[in-house]
Amino acid sequence: MQRETAVHHQQASSVLVIGGDSTLGGLLVDRLSRKKSLVVSTTRHRITMRPNQVFLDLSTASLDASNLPEAIGWVVICAAMTNQQACAENPEESRRVNVTNTIELCKWAAQQNAKTILLSTNLIFDGLEPSAGPNSPIAPQSLYAQQKAEVEEVVLRQPGNTVCRLSKVLDQKTPLISKWIAKLRSGAPVKAFSDYKFAPVHSSIVIEVLTKIIEQKRPGIYQVSATETISYAEFARMIARALGLSPELVEGSLAPPHVFPESGMHRPIFMDMDTKAIQKKLGISPPTIEATIDLLLAQA
Ligand SMILES: NC(=O)c1ccc[n+]([C@@H]2O[C@H](COP(=O)([O-])OP(=O)(O)OC[C@H]3O[C@@H](n4cnc5c(N)ncnc54)[C@H](OP(=O)(O)O)[C@@H]3O)[C@@H](O)[C@H]2O)c1
Repeated sequence: MQRETAVHHQQASSVLVIGGDSTLGGLLVDRLSRKKSLVVSTTRHRITMRPNQVFLDLSTASLDASNLPEAIGWVVICAAMTNQQACAENPEESRRVNVTNTIELCKWAAQQNAKTILLSTNLIFDGLEPSAGPNSPIAPQSLYAQQKAEVEEVVLRQPGNTVCRLSKVLDQKTPLISKWIAKLRSGAPVKAFSDYKFAPVHSSIVIEVLTKIIEQKRPGIYQVSATETISYAEFARMIARALGLSPELVEGSLAPPHVFPESGMHRPIFMDMDTKAIQKKLGISPPTIEATIDLLLAQA
């Protein structure tokens, strides 16, 4: 039945979201569906499969594309093992999911004449310099980032394909953020890392970027991050100020050992990337930290 629904929707303009249960995949499916685009997504949970979903497990020994709709226009790859530590601890499985079968998926997409959009990461850079450009040298420092970099290379070999590199994506549903906002609003103190940095960007910006790439048929390399790198503690203080509260409610703390490189996690000095392409090619304003906080508080 699910297969029939998907087949019914086969059109060259339609979108196949690999990983419809992922945070970003789910948001993209919602956005495209609201715009009446034809969208099919994959899930690895047969029991909870929804209409317009098909089964796909990327951890199999070889890719089984038999459930995927053919003659699809765009394939957006959101599914991945995204936890750096889990990738490092399970190198064979993470390679099957993040590299081998994802590359097979790109080849399958090319055979369907579909354009692939790969969601990648700022971690493909070493983060020693701010504002890494789309063509800055790739220097991944963790297995997860190496895996993304390897697939990027394959994706970009095919004209018409896109790599969309993301830094930390968050919104009002991100547990850490909703917890901070609730605590601050109640006047309670908040602890946040003062030695761990990020370049947070709101999920709605990422979804806008993906939607515009598809609607305007503008493939290429896009980078979506905040325009600067700040510590978690400073970000929490900025939220406090934006709420009209004292930044002193935020107490800086040191990140625990599990975020150190020995556990397979890379902790770059700079997490921000050059985001000019989203402005120049898609007309999206630079995602400043202030803009991200405005979006967070508008929804919270
Ligand atoms: N969110 C960010 O801050 C961020 C930053 C940089 C890059 N990215 C990239 O953007 C993409 C989407 O991120 P996200 O945060 O939305 O991801 P997410 O919420 O962590 O979801 C990852 C998805 O991958 C699926 N998956 C894992 N193993 C799989 C397998 N063997 N077969 C099929 N599906 C499998 C998971 O399925 P289940 O739901 O069944 O577990 C899950 O839905 C990822 O590729 C990520 O690397 C995200």
